[in-house]
Amino acid sequence: MGLSTRHLLGIKDLNRNDIELIFNTADTFKDVINRPIKKVPSLRDVTIANIFFENSTRTRLSFELAERRLSADTLNFAASSSSVSKGETLIDTVNNILAMKVDMVVMRHPYAGAGVFLSKHVKAQIVNAGDGAHEHPTQALLDAFSIREKLGDVEGKKIVIVGDILHSRVALSNILCLKQLGAEVMVCGPTTLIPKYIGSLGVKVEHDLRKALNWCDVANMLRIQLERQDIKYFPSLREYTMLYGLDKQILDSLDKEILVMHPGPINRGVEITSDVADSKQSLILDQVENGVAVRMAVLYLLAGQSGA
Ligand code: CP
Repeated sequence: MGLSTRHLLGIKDLNRNDIELIFNTADTFKDVINRPIKKVPSLRDVTIANIFFENSTRTRLSFELAERRLSADTLNFAASSSSVSKGETLIDTVNNILAMKVDMVVMRHPYAGAGVFLSKHVKAQIVNAGDGAHEHPTQALLDAFSIREKLGDVEGKKIVIVGDILHSRVALSNILCLKQLGAEVMVCGPTTLIPKYIGSLGVKVEHDLRKALNWCDVANMLRIQLERQDIKYFPSLREYTMLYGLDKQILDSLDKEILVMHPGPINRGVEITSDVADSKQSLILDQVENGVAVRMAVLYLLAGQSGA
């Protein structure tokens, strides 16, 4: 039993069996990384290049650590300190890296579809570490894995994703992943930040934060992606926070105790207050911890498909 895909370009490429295989493999790797000796030889002699054309803290470090825990050899490439600024194309950049005998490329890129494009033009296996406002598959996998870990199962659970759905790759990948696993999904935010097509993905839409929170088991709070906004989508951040920010007063007034997630980076005091982010209902650091095990599982399983 292996994955049904040679690359991980998006959750849209995974079926339910693939996701469950990744989770079961991540369970094993989570045990491994909690042992005194955290390293296994599974990817010895595999070379992985992490190429980041956009800033990252969690995803880049998590992939690097996952690769080291699996004993892979790694190369780290940041576009800001490379020859990209001298006019080199994406294909030329990657083919030059591949000439150094690289097997797998983990790529973050500001343009949607960059990973798909690359997978059609180079020989290496491609892992999408976030492409523009399109997909962020490993984030969605670690989010669903964290829900499964806390609530036992994802099937039948109610998850609301709150905030800038329009510009969020995390939102789209989460919706696709959670729906594959049988969860009920709602999105909540101002009308201007919810894409018109969203209903076609089988999600509910709610504009009232309190109603959404009273409905859900888990609230995934997203950052406002100001860097991707070409126009103003709401009058001010202060007004956004008043209507869609989650604070302890709202959290404590709900009919039930919900779990709170956030993919990071957090803008404390905008979409979430510090007392919520640091509360016992918050899964934020569990998500980061689980990211390493989930990415180990993805890399390990993809390496098994290298000749596919
Ligand atoms: N969640 C996430 O993708 O964070 P980074 O941008 O820091 O990688």
